[in-house]
Amino acid sequence: MIVGLIGCGAIANIITNNISSENININISYFYDKDIERAQNLATLNHGIAVINFEEMIDKVDLILECASPDSVKQYAPTALKKGKDMIIMSIGALMDKEFYHSIYNIAKKNNSKIHLPSGAIVGLDGIKAVSDFNLQEVNLITRKSPKSLGKDIYKKETLFEGKASQAVKKFPLNINVAATISLACNMDINVKIIVDPEVNQNVHEITVKGEFGEFKTITKNHPCNANPKTSMLAALSAIKLLKSLNETINIGI
Ligand SMILES: NC(=O)c1ccc[n+]([C@@H]2O[C@H](COP(=O)([O-])OP(=O)(O)OC[C@H]3O[C@@H](n4cnc5c(N)ncnc54)[C@H](O)[C@@H]3O)[C@@H](O)[C@H]2O)c1
Repeated sequence: MIVGLIGCGAIANIITNNISSENININISYFYDKDIERAQNLATLNHGIAVINFEEMIDKVDLILECASPDSVKQYAPTALKKGKDMIIMSIGALMDKEFYHSIYNIAKKNNSKIHLPSGAIVGLDGIKAVSDFNLQEVNLITRKSPKSLGKDIYKKETLFEGKASQAVKKFPLNINVAATISLACNMDINVKIIVDPEVNQNVHEITVKGEFGEFKTITKNHPCNANPKTSMLAALSAIKLLKSLNETINIGI
């Protein structure tokens, strides 16, 4: 499988550093970034090809792995899917725009392409998906991050946001993909609280789910990436696992 990357930042670097050589079926070969130097650096490290335009790589790849920004999803996903290419999308917040979601869903369906959304920086999505059709009553997400991770100059603990996921992704588009992922997985505009806390040095996501099945709670404490403290290592690792799963005969916990 030939893979083309959009975005050559923190997540892309973790992915390419950690895709082991035993995965000979996954060749991350094309690198695109609006910052061409980033694309060139990552391409050189991975013996790949840096492209100046997205269009240069689209006919050469089987799958596009987006790890850039919500804007890039809106810019490139329709073209990729129209050409029958599969996509892994990291900037999941882009799909909270319902019109856009339905538009790329229809394009993918018509052109027999697939859209894959990794579980990202949280655990528990398997359970959320499993119970989502059985009278789900309540899903809550509390995200705690340091001022640095949220890109804020704040010196005391503060609730920055309390409301629905659809509003949270508008206010914190680069920080709250997790809220979007959960909402899409359970088809519910979930309750979100975002707390900035100078005492916290991890990106912490606490999820509680209640429904006819009973209830569960998960807490994920992520180390922020050095290259981009908004991003957690687990997010990149989940994309690697998803990429590998596309070639697996037995898939567990899907
Ligand atoms: N799903 C999740 O759980 C999860 C977790 C963390 C981050 N993310 C998202 O993944 C994306 C990448 O995160 P990151 O930490 O690697 O970011 P980053 O800032 O380290 O790197 C992003 C790269 O993409 C490039 N880029 C941005 N917009 C572009 C465009 N329109 N066209 C081409 N290149 C573009 C930038 O120049 C940069 O090099 C972000 O949108 C982030 O919000 C998702």
